[in-house]
Amino acid sequence: MDAVRIYGGKCLQGQTTIQGSKNASLPILAATLLINGTCEIENCPDISDVYHMLRLLKSLGCAVKREGTLVRVNTEKLSECDMPSDSVGVMRSSIMLLGALLARTGNVCMEYPGGCVIGSRPINLHIQALRKMGVTIEENETEFCAETVRLKGAVVSLPFVSVGVTENVILAAVLAEGETVIRPAAREPEIQALCEFLQCAGAQIEGIGTDCLVIRGVEGLHPVRYRVPADRIVAGTYLCACMCAGGQIFLRDAPVSHMESILSYAIEMGASVVREKDGILVIGRERQPVCHVLKTGCYPEFPTDMQSPFMAVMAASGQSARIVETVFENRFRIVPALCKMGAEITVHGNTAFVDGSSKLHGAIVQAEELRGGAALVIAALAAEGTSIVTNRHYIDRGYEDIVLSLRELGADAELA
Ligand code: EPZ
Repeated sequence: MDAVRIYGGKCLQGQTTIQGSKNASLPILAATLLINGTCEIENCPDISDVYHMLRLLKSLGCAVKREGTLVRVNTEKLSECDMPSDSVGVMRSSIMLLGALLARTGNVCMEYPGGCVIGSRPINLHIQALRKMGVTIEENETEFCAETVRLKGAVVSLPFVSVGVTENVILAAVLAEGETVIRPAAREPEIQALCEFLQCAGAQIEGIGTDCLVIRGVEGLHPVRYRVPADRIVAGTYLCACMCAGGQIFLRDAPVSHMESILSYAIEMGASVVREKDGILVIGRERQPVCHVLKTGCYPEFPTDMQSPFMAVMAASGQSARIVETVFENRFRIVPALCKMGAEITVHGNTAFVDGSSKLHGAIVQAEELRGGAALVIAALAAEGTSIVTNRHYIDRGYEDIVLSLRELGADAELA
């Protein structure tokens, strides 16, 4: 039962409510370690990456309670202890605990983080930045140990934008001695949410939403209740599902202001979108696509996490286009599976050439990572006949019940 079976060809109709953001929830949950007391996180998605983050917090001695999408974390009984490797190693965001634990306890030993196989995912810039902030870090084959008497503010100049490094340095800087400058800082909405959460708790952060963050360390932070924004990548995924299958759907709570680059490419791909105060109305195939090049980049450019879903749309669109991936070095992993479904795609370096003229047909394909797995599911909506996407557990890392959501929108989909 770790697969999805889809019978393609049915248009989507109706509405779906967009879950809270995975990539905002994870660093915010790590940030609760900076606060001695109980924080309440609203709109926290019920997905396996959040499950593993909560498991790691519990392993550190925190009391964790989930009531629907409200999660309470009490860190008063935080105690040093080993974090379970099967939770550390399963996701990239366990690296967020490094900055937070150094700020709270001054030392941490942990295994290297996991994460999707979309690239080598090194942590060299995390380690370089924290060393500049007064942290001693010893690395060996399987784990690394970091310790500091007191974190010190520093000017962290990065060779390129990194979401995770920006988050880790923010977590280390808010209680550090002195001022920390991060440039270029990542500007993603998830970073802005983390900064807003910390500001609510008493942190002093300037430049939110810009590529230069200035953080002045404070003596302490206080517990807060904070609502996580909706997930722009999940909203974009259902937008792509409607472009693949056709029809008209309403994405309730979609974070419109975080999705401008996604929406403009969707319109170029032939969709109609109506921005409303409580979501986005999408008509999947309103006109012929005119998009010829899609290039990923750092926010506010087109997000790399939407690259695979848009490749699925292109493969089913009846027109040719190329995709340039500038963030990760191995993010075309779904190409063989889409070709097995009848797509004609060739890859040269960081560019994929998609000939959308061929019809997609059902096939048995295997998900290898989160967004690629979601892209195969939405490609199956456009394929003729039955498709089975295996390794659904990759998709469950970031999507609350994608099968139920698609069924409610009229897709012929079921767990398999
Ligand atoms: C975050 O990953 C997201 N994950 C990713 O989403 C997202 O694709 C990525 O940011 C880019 O937006 C979470 O927030 C949990 P990076 P992260 O550091 O922090 C290189 C999803 O599907 N790099 O911005 O790992 C790195 O290899 C996931 O939800 C170093 O070289 O991304 C990459 O090429 C997938 N050394 C580039 O920087 C380092 O020390 C950007 O990565 C760190 C990063």
